[in-house]
Amino acid sequence: MTGELSPIDKAKFVAAKQAADMVEDGMRVGLGTGSTAAWLVRHLGDRVRDEGLRIKGVPTSLRTAQLARQVGIEVITLDQAGTLNITIDGADEFDGNLNLIKGGGGALLHEKIVAAASEEVVVIADAAKEVGTLGAFPLPIEVIPFGWTTTQMLVEELLVSADVMGRRITLRMNNGKPFVTDEGNHILDLHLSRIGNARQLAMALNQMPGVVENGLFVDLCDKVIIGYSDGRVETRDINEGTVSQDRIDLVENDNLFSDI
Ligand code: A5P
Repeated sequence: MTGELSPIDKAKFVAAKQAADMVEDGMRVGLGTGSTAAWLVRHLGDRVRDEGLRIKGVPTSLRTAQLARQVGIEVITLDQAGTLNITIDGADEFDGNLNLIKGGGGALLHEKIVAAASEEVVVIADAAKEVGTLGAFPLPIEVIPFGWTTTQMLVEELLVSADVMGRRITLRMNNGKPFVTDEGNHILDLHLSRIGNARQLAMALNQMPGVVENGLFVDLCDKVIIGYSDGRVETRDINEGTVSQDRIDLVENDNLFSDI
């Protein structure tokens, strides 16, 4: 059945499989959000069912929680977990220092809190997510609905003196209405094209009244696993400075695909 997957889905599938195999019995695991993280949750569900793997999952969104329960993963809250052994999540962009843009799926707030609570953060991605400099992907920021147009104006003023190439801001929409996050907030997408100093911008954005969190993940990611459609996976460890290669069999497994 993997033969029916697009090349990009095969790449996400193998990256997620490699990451799922890093999870050990008894771990408390942060479960990311998005299409790549959904593969991870399915792979973990497969291991729970077939190997009797015992893990507790802390999902980063309501939709990940729903999928995790569907595939048989025990779901707990972050407050119940306290700290996490590992979090595995997707990303919209990653650079050579494993700094990230996240939030394309609108879950950046919970994703960042869960990542910050984790001993190890692993990003799973296809090769198209790698960039020299962050910013081609619009940077999401989560803002509270009250006075969001004022917040947008404040962010526009901030961007005038920021080291960025573009400055357009759009309110994320969903079916003709403002997108609403799991915390009841809205998302502004910042079309910056190029972010010269991600750390500085992340700090400045979070000082704006009305901004809850931004999608720049600086110094949070420990490893990236890059998947390719032919089954190759590359793991880069920023702390160890190592790069390793592996290959995953794209094996047919009806269980994994039953909910697609
Ligand atoms: C969700 O809010 C995001 O941070 C996702 O992790 C990111 O958008 C990657 O999603 P895909 O795996 O679907 O590309």
